[in-house]
Amino acid sequence: MIRFDRVAKRYPSGREALAELTLEVAKGEMVFLTGHSGAGKSTALKLIALIERPSRGQILVEGRSIAGIGRRGIPAYRRNIGMVFQDHKLLHDRPIWDNVALPLVICGTPRREVDRRVRAALDQVGLSGREKSVPIELSTGEQQRVGIARAIVGKPPLVIADEPTGNLDPDLALEIMRLFKRFNDVGVTVVVASHDLHLIEQIGARRIALVAGRLAGAAGE
Ligand SMILES: Nc1ncnc2c1ncn2[C@@H]1O[C@H](COP(=O)(O)OP(=O)(O)O)[C@@H](O)[C@H]1O
Ligand SMILES: [Mg+2]
Repeated sequence: MIRFDRVAKRYPSGREALAELTLEVAKGEMVFLTGHSGAGKSTALKLIALIERPSRGQILVEGRSIAGIGRRGIPAYRRNIGMVFQDHKLLHDRPIWDNVALPLVICGTPRREVDRRVRAALDQVGLSGREKSVPIELSTGEQQRVGIARAIVGKPPLVIADEPTGNLDPDLALEIMRLFKRFNDVGVTVVVASHDLHLIEQIGARRIALVAGRLAGAAGE
């Protein structure tokens, strides 16, 4: 599903965030990307999402090099990726329905279909019937679940999440991680970046550990 072949990323500041990173995530697999702050987890996810481009090396997604996807191809490419961030960037003055429906509305999905999918997505994250609430009426954990519903509403085959439990207390964090595990159980490929090893241990999925932009244990560590 995802293959990094000797990928390096140097930011304009000169900072080398990733170096010689080679990894593979199989279709239908769930993987945790771990490592201390600054290890390169977010950068790796941004490269997958085409938010950033590698300085060297190649990234394949579904067998295709994503280097050839230009600006105009990015929206179509991203429709196949559900993205979840710690800061869920909800529209705070708009109902949950609007927030979750957004990706479908943008690409012109018929209203009835949007309605059906929004309800299904909210049901999956345990927020059935909350369509009309606004984010400010929800707890932090519930808001994070709205962000997750928005990420999966288009039924993407791949979900990437960057520290999705960063500001949640341990019980809620575990609940969110289990939610990702459930998506994976029904065939979605899931890549979650997290530095919380204790939490990760409770889920049971392969780990890819990064140290200073390289695989832990790779030469030079
Ligand atoms: N936009 C950026 N510009 C310059 N340096 C960056 C940028 N984003 C990240 N970095 C640097 O790249 C390294 C890896 O960062 P990041 O991928 O965010 O790691 P992590 O998510 O594991 O904490 C860090 O040294 C960080 O300071
Ligand atoms: Mg990060």
